[in-house]
Amino acid sequence: MHVRTLVTIYATLAAAPALSQQIFDVWTTTWDRTQLLNYENLSPNPVNFVAASGTDDGDITIDDGTVHQSMAGFGASLTDSSALLLSKLKDKNAGNYWSLLGKLFDPTNGANAAGFTYLRVPLGASDFSANVYSFDDVDGDTHLNNFDIGKAPSYLFSTIRDIQGINPYLRVHILPWSPPAWMKDSGTMKGGSLVSGYTTVYANYLLKCLQGFQNRGIFAWAIGIQNEPQHSDPTYPSTSMSAYQEAQIGAALRSLMDANGFASVRLIGYEHNWDDAGDYPIKITEDAGNAFSGVAFHCYEGDVAQQSAFVNSFPDKEVYMTECTGVDGTDWWEDIKWYMDNLFIGSVNRGSSGALMWNLALDGNGSPKLPGAGSCSTACRAVVTVNSDGSYAFNQEYYSMAQASKAVLPRDTNGPFGQRIGSSVGGGLSSDLQVTAYVTERGNSSDWRRYSLVVLNSKDQKSGSYSPSSVKATIGFRGKLATYTFPVGVTTLWWYAQ
Ligand SMILES: *[C@@H]1O[C@H](CO)[C@@H](O)[C@H](O)[C@H]1NC(C)=O
Repeated sequence: MHVRTLVTIYATLAAAPALSQQIFDVWTTTWDRTQLLNYENLSPNPVNFVAASGTDDGDITIDDGTVHQSMAGFGASLTDSSALLLSKLKDKNAGNYWSLLGKLFDPTNGANAAGFTYLRVPLGASDFSANVYSFDDVDGDTHLNNFDIGKAPSYLFSTIRDIQGINPYLRVHILPWSPPAWMKDSGTMKGGSLVSGYTTVYANYLLKCLQGFQNRGIFAWAIGIQNEPQHSDPTYPSTSMSAYQEAQIGAALRSLMDANGFASVRLIGYEHNWDDAGDYPIKITEDAGNAFSGVAFHCYEGDVAQQSAFVNSFPDKEVYMTECTGVDGTDWWEDIKWYMDNLFIGSVNRGSSGALMWNLALDGNGSPKLPGAGSCSTACRAVVTVNSDGSYAFNQEYYSMAQASKAVLPRDTNGPFGQRIGSSVGGGLSSDLQVTAYVTERGNSSDWRRYSLVVLNSKDQKSGSYSPSSVKATIGFRGKLATYTFPVGVTTLWWYAQ
């Protein structure tokens, strides 16, 4: 019996007092890959929350009286390179293309898919483009008469539209790696800074990007001003931009957006590493707080705990973890532990409304890349590896994010996303468990809310070789306890309650 049927039955037993909650839906990815986003419906033997006391090796407590941020979900960047590989796959093997997009993006309740909802898209060239371009490469065109959104490859827009067709919740976050070369002191998109006199021109350029995407059928959910503003590199599009300058552009762009039908679009600042969380993002928010909805972090310097420096200063602003990449040659399970610990549980527990990897798709060599780009000197690994023969393979980035995504997807068509609620772990083995929990409101308020729990069990006892052991844990919810034995790996559980 599916849990939905049970909900219906319970709803008809209106007089029945204090019905107990039951865990029916479980997704599991284990350290040894014997289970990979494996779905199990526990019917007819669900795990019951029962009136009980006592403790176990792990004691997880859910506090649904404390509701934190609403989630926007998980995903990756659709670089030009990712879009090129996917569009080539569509030409070569349309069946594989559509099944791949389905496994990545189908948000349907019960779908055997990750249901990614967050797509970050570079505006103009990045280090994963075929060539260097902006949307207006005519020198000195300060009125942007030659602005042309069609400078982006057509496969970028067609791929986004295909994804939108699968996932109506898709949130597209656009941002540039560089202003056009002629607006910069370096005269090139590869490094340098925006000339200060072009602040307003550049804000207008970004407005035109929003309009250009809209004209291509893509209404952006968020926009950024500059990817990694503290990193100028002569080998690929990049820009050094001060917090002062980003705040000025932000204020100008916010006014333009509000006046041109983009008032609902988030402006998200910073887009750089955790290590400067106590400085740059705080400065732009102090200078132009009304312009920015929040800020985004990358994982390459510092650590996730530093995110709290911003969150504690501006608890009402949003936070996103928008970029991190795997590289060739690392260990599958060690990576999953790190990702859950730092991104898909760790960053979320420190306020992130979304968490994303870098490239959505690359080939097995971390290509194609911009010729000469010095980034990803050890080949970067994407969420999915797409091969030239038309086959594809999901990487550890896919499975770890999918386990998190399943916990926050809207339960009902057009229903809201999950919101993080309080969770904590005690017990003798508490250091082996990392947890986060969510509540998802229903489209119809008379239906029971969905509760979900994501658990990393890292008790692999590695010393030379692994000696993994499951952890039996209690889950405390509204004064009752369920008991579940978590294998070493990642587990996502669902239950329903009024
Ligand atoms: C919500 O659910 C209740 C109970 O099943 C039902 O009577 C009502 O018509 C539903 N409302 C909507 C708007 O679907």
